[in-house]
Amino acid sequence: DETGKGQYDHFMLKEIHTQPTSLRKTIEGRVDLDSGSTDLDIESDLSEVETVHLVGCGTSYHAALFAACLLNRCGLSARAIRASEYDLTAGTPSNNTLFVAVTQSGETADTLSALRRANDVGLDTLAVTNVVQSTVAREADEPLYIRAGPEIGVAATKTFSSQAAMLTLLSQHLARVNQYASRVNNIEALLSDLTDLPDAVEGVLQSSNATRLAEKYLDENAYFFIGRGLGCSVAKEGALKFKEITYEHAEGFASGELKHGPLALVTDRTPVFAVCADDSSKTVTNAKEAQTRGAPIIAVSTSDHSIVDTADDHLSIPDMHPVCSNLLANVQLQLLSYYCATELGRAIDKPRNLAKSVTVE
Ligand code: G6P
Repeated sequence: DETGKGQYDHFMLKEIHTQPTSLRKTIEGRVDLDSGSTDLDIESDLSEVETVHLVGCGTSYHAALFAACLLNRCGLSARAIRASEYDLTAGTPSNNTLFVAVTQSGETADTLSALRRANDVGLDTLAVTNVVQSTVAREADEPLYIRAGPEIGVAATKTFSSQAAMLTLLSQHLARVNQYASRVNNIEALLSDLTDLPDAVEGVLQSSNATRLAEKYLDENAYFFIGRGLGCSVAKEGALKFKEITYEHAEGFASGELKHGPLALVTDRTPVFAVCADDSSKTVTNAKEAQTRGAPIIAVSTSDHSIVDTADDHLSIPDMHPVCSNLLANVQLQLLSYYCATELGRAIDKPRNLAKSVTVE
């Protein structure tokens, strides 16, 4: 039943657990493993695109950040821009800029307003959205539906995973058709791991120790989340989810930025969640800097990552292509937020002061 909570106490928990299914729907028919390519049915000619603007709010902005990082690796100049800042920070986009609106609801006023500006100046526009025939879907040149099914919980969970998966496919479509882009080195591994991602999410959901860690780290002053590259967007999304539903102070930083300010806030009452979903060791160094100041470190990493030797606790993820490992790290952080919020007796599905879709600028 798509509309009820089923066996779950909250829609959010149901939606977290629905991710294997929603991700399968996102990917279905869009990956051809034999030829190592994507099939997105995009009509727009994107061969001349030089710059990509990925624009969204909240969780959708974090999916945009994730995708910008991936597109940059393919050689395209891509920027994630907060929709509410688009007027002020996008400059005068050149004609060969592709505008991608990222929005679950397709109705967010800030995102719609940025899209209208992009349409006015004649950019190619795509909408990565969940809601069929939403305003953004209708006003963009082409909608790319993430097919995640209805999301009721105000805090977005399954739609972030599906947006990131869809944008990963879009990045590889662009890399194939675009004269300035190249595909990621290990495209076959990426596409094959993406196909396996739903099962891997299932595994993480079944084996996660997030409940225990939520109880252990319940009564702290603040919660910090750090990561680099793709992991930075996951850290920011982890912190957003945490603050939205627990009402605790949480911030997500680029690992390397910790020492440029946030470290002043670090004490033994500020757990630091370190997303290490690739083999980079720099986050380990940054986490140690916080640990020296007393902060407990919780690694979100594969079991054999060097950060595990340093960390006080561990949320484990399987070793896959970094795109997938980072999305699995995000699932662990969704569970952590959910269980902390339930321990605190929060209103999980309808956090105070927040709305699922914000239709004013
Ligand atoms: C609101 C919701 C967030 C969501 C954001 C963007 O602030 O509370 O969960 O991420 O809007 O929504 P959209 O529908 O554009 O993805």
